[in-house]
Amino acid sequence: MFSHKLSDNLYYVGVNDRKTQLFERMIPLPYGVSYNSYLLVDEKVVLFDTVENSFAEHSLEKIKFALEGRKIDYLVIHHLEPDHTSGIKAYLTQYPDLQIVCNKKAAEMLNGFYSISQNLLIVEENQELPIGKHVLRFIFAPMVHWPEVMMSYEKTEKVLFSADAFGCFGTLDGAVEDSKLNIEKYIGEMYRYYVNIIGKYGLPVQKTLQKLTDIQIDTICSLHGPVWRKHIEKVVGIYNQLSKYEGENGVVIVYGSMYSHTEAMAEVVARGVAEITPNVILHDVSKSDISQIITDCFRYKGLIIGSPTYNGNLFPEVSQVLDKLELRTLKNRIFASFGCYTWAGQSVRLLNAFSEKMQYENVGSAEVKQAMQKADYEIFYNLGKEVAGKVR
Ligand code: FEO
Repeated sequence: MFSHKLSDNLYYVGVNDRKTQLFERMIPLPYGVSYNSYLLVDEKVVLFDTVENSFAEHSLEKIKFALEGRKIDYLVIHHLEPDHTSGIKAYLTQYPDLQIVCNKKAAEMLNGFYSISQNLLIVEENQELPIGKHVLRFIFAPMVHWPEVMMSYEKTEKVLFSADAFGCFGTLDGAVEDSKLNIEKYIGEMYRYYVNIIGKYGLPVQKTLQKLTDIQIDTICSLHGPVWRKHIEKVVGIYNQLSKYEGENGVVIVYGSMYSHTEAMAEVVARGVAEITPNVILHDVSKSDISQIITDCFRYKGLIIGSPTYNGNLFPEVSQVLDKLELRTLKNRIFASFGCYTWAGQSVRLLNAFSEKMQYENVGSAEVKQAMQKADYEIFYNLGKEVAGKVR
């Protein structure tokens, strides 16, 4: 099995998963996902991370091909989540003498998940491990997005093995380096990956980015998606923007609607937004995937939510969106709300309570009984225009 060569000593030995429909059984994978693994061949042979169990043999074939009979000396584990470790026993069977390099928290998880407690080299933050011409330094990245996460920086080739950070969904089709791939789909999938997987942990991401500021990085080898060389500044910028909860100029309108009355309001609100900016995105919660809805809420500064009153509450799928945003502590939004009711309104009150809890700048709300009348149009139009004016 052919393995991609990234330099004279560095190989990509990861795999593509085009079978799994839902990542973590929740998040759709329209472009699949890769589980990345890398091999550094020097006086010692180092494998950086393993892959998901059903793909382990495939990765091991690539390793065997690259090593031409040599053995693995060290397996560095940056992150214990099972998409990267559930295949570990296959590696230990094939290379029983390898030493596992990880931190103390990872060692506890390794024992808990897999009953593995032998042959470990426990490392500390900033500890160095010489492996020949190459030297690894370990940089801890707790809560990006698990507590045991660490990165390795290889000083000679200036490669950062970054764990999940700077990763994205999407299989690597034919090539693994960003310069050889059309990166458009990966960038879109990076937003969705960050928001859904890492979104809650903005502060830990900021702390980790701080640790990386003084390091010259020529290559980023993440656990998912392309190897970044040409677009390092761009992908670090995306992580920086999202982890600071900074929104771009644009407005997301999220609405639920049973009989199209709330939807009609959303259309009028959108016209008001479009008067100011072309960056307006409408999501019908009954149709759009929630992983994409919350991604766009993270991406843009303006957030307008509409809901009918349903059983004295919000439309249930609208509630789910609010829960996911709250769980990820989305901050700094310009907010407005709208809704309708048939006999007693609650939705707008509840949306305003959400805004208050999240400390958003609430521009206002509009609510009608049953259906919009001609005289209401201007109110909804102006609501959209006002939010768009503030995000510009
Ligand atoms: Fe790709 Fe957090 O595992």
